[in-house]
Amino acid sequence: METVLVVGATGNIGVSAVISALRSGRKVLAIVRNQTSADKLRTHIANIPSLSFDGITFVKADVTSETGVRGVVDQVRAGKLPGFQHVFSCVGGDYNAIPLTEITTEMLRRNMNLSFEANFCTSHFPWLGRETTWTSCTGAQGDIALMPVPAIPQGALFSFCTAASRENETTNVRFNEIYLAFRVEVDELAAQHGVTPASEFAGVYEQILGRPEIRSSRVRVESVADIEELKFKRKF
Ligand SMILES: NC(=O)c1ccc[n+]([C@@H]2O[C@H](COP(=O)([O-])OP(=O)(O)OC[C@H]3O[C@@H](n4cnc5c(N)ncnc54)[C@H](OP(=O)(O)O)[C@@H]3O)[C@@H](O)[C@H]2O)c1
Repeated sequence: METVLVVGATGNIGVSAVISALRSGRKVLAIVRNQTSADKLRTHIANIPSLSFDGITFVKADVTSETGVRGVVDQVRAGKLPGFQHVFSCVGGDYNAIPLTEITTEMLRRNMNLSFEANFCTSHFPWLGRETTWTSCTGAQGDIALMPVPAIPQGALFSFCTAASRENETTNVRFNEIYLAFRVEVDELAAQHGVTPASEFAGVYEQILGRPEIRSSRVRVESVADIEELKFKRKF
C-alpha cells in the first residue's frame, strides 16, 4: 500500500491532504510538531465518518529547521519509519492583513521560514517509489496580495513550483502545484465560518494522486466547481 508524507499535516490544507490519502486507500506519514498537534489531527479525522486514523503514522519533527526535516528522512532510510511514494507540503505561517509598513523583519523572516523554507525543504526528500508525486499548495494571495504576510512567501513558492516542475518534467516524480483561490478550513471551522470544508477540497489531491497525466502543472482551484472538474495547465 502506498504512503503519502504530509508536511504541515495538522493545518486546514494538511488535514485535507490526509483525507485525500486515506480516502484513496493510502497510508499517511504525518509530520507534527508536538502531541497537541497530533491530537488535533486525530480529532479532525475521527469526525469524518468512514475514515480511521489507524492508517496514520505520526512523526515529531521541527519543520522550521533543516535538521528536523532531515531527521525524518534519516529515519525513513534506516527503516524506522514507513517509506513513502508521495509528498504533500503545506506548512503555513500567519494569516492576517497587517500592512507592509507594520511588518517587522522578524515577522517577515518567521513567515518566509514557515510558508516558504519549510515547504522548500521537501526538495531534499528521497523518492522511494517508481511512480511518485510531489505536490505543493499555493494561493491567490501571492497574486492579489490583499494580505502581504501570507502573500509574499507565496510569490517565492510560485517560482519554486516552476523550478520543481521543470526539473521533474521527465523524472519519475510528478510535481504539481495546487493554486487555491478561496478559503478552505477543517470541517468544524468551515461550518462555523461558511467556507469550504477540507473534506470537500480533498477531492483535488485525490484526483491528482490518481491521474498520471497531471504533471509539472498548476492546478487552478478558483471555485468550488473546480474541485470536481480539475483545471490544470503546464507551468511552463
Ligand atoms: N486554507 C486556505 O484556504 C489556503 C488557501 C490558499 C493557500 N493556502 C496556503 O496553504 C498553506 C497552509 O494553509 P493552512 O490554511 O492549512 O494553514 P494552517 O491551518 O495555519 O496550518 C499551517 C500548518 O503549518 C504548521 N505550522 C505553523 N507554524 C508552525 C511552527 N512554528 N512550527 C511547526 N509547524 C508549524 C501548522 O502546525 P500546527 O497545527 O502544529 O500549528 C499546520 O500544520 C499556507 O501556505 C497557505 O498560504 C491556504
